Amino acid sequence: MGGQLMVATTNPGKLAELNRILAAGHVDVELISLAGLDAPAVRETGATFAANALLKAHAIAEFSGLPTVADDSGLCADALNGMPGVLSARWSGRGATDERNLQLLLDQLADTPAARRGAHFTCAAALVLPSGREHVAEGTMNGRLLTAPRGTAGFGYDPVFVPDKSELTTAEMTAEAKDAISHRGRALRALAPVIAALLG
Ligand code: IMP
Repeated sequence: MGGQLMVATTNPGKLAELNRILAAGHVDVELISLAGLDAPAVRETGATFAANALLKAHAIAEFSGLPTVADDSGLCADALNGMPGVLSARWSGRGATDERNLQLLLDQLADTPAARRGAHFTCAAALVLPSGREHVAEGTMNGRLLTAPRGTAGFGYDPVFVPDKSELTTAEMTAEAKDAISHRGRALRALAPVIAALLG
């Protein structure tokens, strides 16, 4: 039996995704989420995805006393010089929702022709041990942005994002198909051997 690993999320979908990826890599650890725990809220003040993932992982490792994985991710649109980037979740300001963020992005790109609608998602996944030792892995998914939403799976900007070599938006894919190519899947698969070496 491997050790315990805290996952700095209350989102059951994220926990299940990491569980699938670690199981596929035969990494034997027991995942624990923040659901039901009175964890400190961590402000995402970093300028990069890696900085924010590390901020969260350090704070929760300190809170829990356990090795902790945290991730931070977002959409970078070429025509917006890489924005919304680390501001993806908060793009439409106070009270931001996925719907408002998506609509604002579409409005901002209303006059941007297909040739300049390239974008990518990036995810940084950080592992921090109680000793303070840290490791970060990143994953990217390249694609392009549509002018209107399509599909109902996924979340966030998925309904307008078509990955390279795909005709479907990530909101029209199964969770498994998206995991195989997604920024988060890639970052977590890159981190899995490090988790195995340190904890498995
Ligand atoms: P967080 O890493 O959970 O804080 O997510 C940051 C934000 O980036 C989310 O609220 C979404 O707006 C966006 N985002 C990150 N990953 C995805 C994805 O796989 N699909 C759609 N939107 C995403």
